[in-house]
Amino acid sequence: MLLPRSWWSTSTLIAIAFSVAESKIDREAIVRQFNLKLNQSHAYSPVQVGNGNFAFGVDVTGLQTFVPHNTLSSWAWHNSSLPTTPNQTAITDYTGVDWWTHDRLVNYAQPNPAEKDISQWMIANPHRINLGRIGLWFGGQDVSEETLVGKIQELDLWTGVIYSTFLFNGVQVQVQTVASPETDTVAIKLQSELLKTGILGVFFDFPYASGKDKFDAPFVGIWNATANHTTELKSANSRASIRHTLDATSYFADVAWDTEASISRFSNDTHKYILVPKKTSDTFALTVTYSPESSKDTETFQKVKEKATGWWSDYWSSGAFASLPINTNTSAKELQRRIVLSQYLLAVNGAGKDPAQESGLVNNGWYGKFHMEMVFWHLAHWTLWDKWSIYDRSIAVYERFHQANCDRARKQSYNGARIGKMSDPSGRSAPGGINSLLIWQQPHPMFFAEMEYRKFPTETTLRKWDVILTAVADFMVSYAYWNVSTHVYDLGPPMYPVSENTNPNQTVNPTFELAYWRFGLNVAEQWKLRQEKPIPADWHFVKENLAPFPIENDVYVLYDGVKDMWTTPALAEDHPGLLGIYGWLPPDPRLNLTTFNLTVEKVYQSWNFPNSYGWDFPLLAITAARLGDAERAVHWLLDASNQFDEVGMPVGGTRVPTPYFPASAGLLLAVGMMAGGWDGMDGPNFPKGWQVVLEGFQKAM
Ligand SMILES: *[C@@H]1O[C@H](CO)[C@@H](O)[C@H](O)[C@H]1NC(C)=O
Ligand SMILES: *[C@@H]1O[C@H](CO)[C@@H](O)[C@H](O)[C@H]1NC(C)=O
Ligand SMILES: *[C@@H]1O[C@H](CO)[C@@H](O)[C@H](O)[C@H]1NC(C)=O
Ligand SMILES: *[C@@H]1O[C@H](CO)[C@@H](O)[C@H](O)[C@H]1NC(C)=O
Ligand SMILES: *[C@@H]1O[C@H](CO)[C@@H](O)[C@H](O)[C@H]1NC(C)=O
Ligand SMILES: *[C@@H]1O[C@H](CO)[C@@H](O)[C@H](O)[C@H]1NC(C)=O
Ligand SMILES: *[C@@H]1O[C@H](CO)[C@@H](O)[C@H](O)[C@H]1NC(C)=O
Ligand SMILES: *[C@@H]1O[C@H](CO)[C@@H](O)[C@H](O)[C@H]1NC(C)=O
Ligand SMILES: *[C@@H]1O[C@H](CO)[C@@H](O)[C@H](O)[C@H]1NC(C)=O
Ligand SMILES: *[C@@H]1O[C@H](CO)[C@@H](O)[C@H](O)[C@H]1NC(C)=O
Ligand SMILES: *[C@@H]1O[C@H](CO)[C@@H](O)[C@H](O)[C@H]1NC(C)=O
Repeated sequence: MLLPRSWWSTSTLIAIAFSVAESKIDREAIVRQFNLKLNQSHAYSPVQVGNGNFAFGVDVTGLQTFVPHNTLSSWAWHNSSLPTTPNQTAITDYTGVDWWTHDRLVNYAQPNPAEKDISQWMIANPHRINLGRIGLWFGGQDVSEETLVGKIQELDLWTGVIYSTFLFNGVQVQVQTVASPETDTVAIKLQSELLKTGILGVFFDFPYASGKDKFDAPFVGIWNATANHTTELKSANSRASIRHTLDATSYFADVAWDTEASISRFSNDTHKYILVPKKTSDTFALTVTYSPESSKDTETFQKVKEKATGWWSDYWSSGAFASLPINTNTSAKELQRRIVLSQYLLAVNGAGKDPAQESGLVNNGWYGKFHMEMVFWHLAHWTLWDKWSIYDRSIAVYERFHQANCDRARKQSYNGARIGKMSDPSGRSAPGGINSLLIWQQPHPMFFAEMEYRKFPTETTLRKWDVILTAVADFMVSYAYWNVSTHVYDLGPPMYPVSENTNPNQTVNPTFELAYWRFGLNVAEQWKLRQEKPIPADWHFVKENLAPFPIENDVYVLYDGVKDMWTTPALAEDHPGLLGIYGWLPPDPRLNLTTFNLTVEKVYQSWNFPNSYGWDFPLLAITAARLGDAERAVHWLLDASNQFDEVGMPVGGTRVPTPYFPASAGLLLAVGMMAGGWDGMDGPNFPKGWQVVLEGFQKAM
């Protein structure tokens, strides 16, 4: 029996944990020092307001006037029509692919060449949709960004409000933009004498879903397929409701405004609507709420702004905070900038009911689906920064997907629960050549459970995770294969290691996965001991008899038997997962530090770092920090290939679409460990000479 949802929340305990004692740090001053101040639109990186489940990206006007940045939410998804190919017309027609796995055939959710169309449909569906565009309307004149002068935009991080201003034909226009912390609502206030002339208003527009592109970026949706979807306007008493229907997906944009105005459809062959105030006032405020159901009670701009201001100042005031020597050291200042902007962007893009997609709510990476192996990199930092109420929002994914995970393991004749990979909110894992053969997502629940127990060492925590950990450990134990000639348990083949760059049929006993298996099974054992429950004998036996780490020429290697890994370009690049056995993970009991140190040197000498991206740099930083080299840790976090742009978006790396938020979340994880320390090291662990002030960090394992 799984526990009801309420058990999955740590937040009852948080009331106490969150009442932060008097802060030594002037958090507000530090946060505000990094307010965004811009004077032009970014073509790729929007400035955003949002709440973790909803984000609204804007250009220099504070709306989506010139650049159609996206409006994405965690609930808005769409299916394209199913293929009409004979025998490939339903999900149930998809049969996966059988591969030999230790003398038996195991069915993997791979794209099946004989079922190409339904395989691709299951990869691309459902996909996330762009809820719509809101922009300024200039009386029907064709205005470009260059026409506007004196453009100044400021995002006030402390309150989550964007202030944008410019002159149009010599008249000042001011725009405030803010998102509700609770609903998918954007609140907008315009102030300008132009409002009295009838040539300033707001337009709304709605795109069709794409579903064609794995990376639907930077702009999500199709704007010219107007015949494929419908919109319908109902309006009365300073309110309008626009219903948007895209095949089986339907939702409402409910608009409410505060002074007399009229709304109408721009033309019948578009989905564009124009809202024009009636020349009565020099201010005009409106709220737009996107929702599957039409909402009866919308809130005013003022109310949304108050709530947002309250939410954001609580966010910054609670949990941990780091103050670095920004006035005396430029590296410290850049790191502080990245920390603050990452904290903002992750609360907007990486704090929803589901684990985050790598590109958050900025655009659609991987059709908008999220990845279960990436849950570690998206969520782990919240535990060190003591932000449990945000962590709580999506950690229950392990409970929600538990049945699907058990079904997956059973179908492959394994015990327990096998966690999927590229997921939509229903828990269906998309077919994929790599997807079905990754295994490093399995021990993540053990990591999270243990972090929670360190903070909340209670019966409730133990009971909450017991069913999940038991089933995941059962899978891990039945997945490990007893090798009769070597008398150890092998992991794989077939499998992919974290770096996804090997031949899966030859990949056996990768260094990182062996350590993570041992770590996970150890936590599972501790969980039983703490509850005075028996530890299944096979758990312990497998844990104690996992294959040794693969070593060649005195250094750890990617997997057992890998050929020429240090001189093969495709192998000495991508995620340097093997360094995770000392850093990301606490020291493995079988780790030989002499060998590990030589491995670090070998990686430093041989790796193709310019091809690294995202969480590779935090991973390297954590290892360096654990080895006592804080200087080097900071260097990794600021590496030339690990860029954060003016808006704070993690845009480093040429191999993935941007933004790539694991770089942001990983940076906070690394800083969290440097600040709070780990077992055996109290922290802080920053470069010598840095005056740091730290508050509220949790210790890592
Ligand atoms: C816009 O901002 C940039 C960067 O802060 C600055 O260099 C530039 O002078 C500004 N331009 C205007 C027209 O204000
Ligand atoms: C998409 O189709 C799947 C499979 O039929 C269904 O479970 C899911 O609810 C659909 N999602 C949407 C957004 O229509
Ligand atoms: C569809 O399935 C039927 C029944 O299994 C089979 O006879 C037929 O050849 C299949 N058609 C195609 C196009 O694969
Ligand atoms: C792995 O082996 C299976 C047979 O078990 C084969 O179908 C598949 O093509 C092989 N994959 C690779 C990448 O060689
Ligand atoms: C929409 O635009 C795309 C890209 O420019 C073009 O290929 C397509 O034909 C257009 N579709 C319609 C219906 O106009
Ligand atoms: C729109 O519908 C037409 C007719 O069904 C179809 O051919 C076309 O592919 C659709 N466009 C998109 C972008 O799905
Ligand atoms: C839009 O369609 C409605 C109803 O068919 C019609 O009355 C109206 O004149 C049309 N408007 C435009 C701008 O074509
Ligand atoms: C057992 O391990 C050895 C050495 O790693 C390997 O060559 C062999 O293939 C393994 N046996 C099986 C049945 O996997
Ligand atoms: C660690 O590895 C080094 C180098 O291979 C070796 O000399 C040493 O004996 C090993 N230490 C242990 C405790 O196994
Ligand atoms: C490994 O490297 C660290 C950092 O340089 C050093 O402190 C430690 O003594 C080294 N350990 C061994 C066994 O070489
Ligand atoms: C800032 O700190 C880093 C890390 O300790 C150091 O390498 C650098 O020299 C410092 N820069 C200045 C200007 O002090």
